[in-house]
Amino acid sequence: MPKLLILNGPNLNLLGTREPAVYGAHTLADVEALCRQAGEAAGCSVECLQSNHEGVLIDALHEAGRAHRAGELLGVVLNAGAYTHTSVALHDAIKGAGAPVVEVHISNVHAREPFRHHSYLSPAAAGIVVGFGIDGYVLAIEGLLRRARAGRG
Ligand code: DQA
Repeated sequence: MPKLLILNGPNLNLLGTREPAVYGAHTLADVEALCRQAGEAAGCSVECLQSNHEGVLIDALHEAGRAHRAGELLGVVLNAGAYTHTSVALHDAIKGAGAPVVEVHISNVHAREPFRHHSYLSPAAAGIVVGFGIDGYVLAIEGLLRRARAGRG
């Protein structure tokens, strides 16, 4: 069964209580349940990981690259939180690992503070979904599935 990895970065474990006016009332558990539902409905297994540590995210991307090369993993949905705006290391990990990564942001980062307008990840991403709330994760999964079906996986 093909696999999808849902990777959430720093502070996303606080969803539900963190700035609800920006991020809504849904928890990380809700996000992960939504992703499991969307992935499993399409015949995929869904693995979810959240970490506040950059290196853990990098290790997960490396493992995703190995699994993708082995034909086990369709791709990664990544909300890297604030590391999006700071991390050359995550950019390099996405490029180096080679698994397709869809960058997701719950909020519309372009309508927020200027420091959120730049992403180090976007140039390395297969696609970007921004500003659709937690539905963005489902849209990203749909994008990965369509990409794989079209043989662009
Ligand atoms: C975020 C946007 C980032 O700017 C922020 O640092 C986050 C969450 C989002 O999902 O909207 O932690 O990635």
